[in-house]
Amino acid sequence: MSKQISFTFNGVAVQCEEGQSIAAAVINSRTLALRKTRFGEEPRSVFCGIGICFDCVVVVDGVANQRSCLIEAKADMNIESSS
Ligand code: FES
Repeated sequence: MSKQISFTFNGVAVQCEEGQSIAAAVINSRTLALRKTRFGEEPRSVFCGIGICFDCVVVVDGVANQRSCLIEAKADMNIESSS
């Protein structure tokens, strides 16, 4: 049985199973956009899912440009959308 953890994404609590990627956990919480584009503020989410495209970048505990499809969610992380 997997352990449930929680973290915040843009200030909203997200529950997930330990070991899930940040991207998977956020999308599973029904929030599809991980960030918006700098020009035009178009929503972006997972595109490649393997760390190549950088469409899924977020700010993880104050560190910018982190690929959420590659980073394992940890309890009490503070995740923010990149702009
Ligand atoms: S979805 Fe492409 S790098 Fe994360």
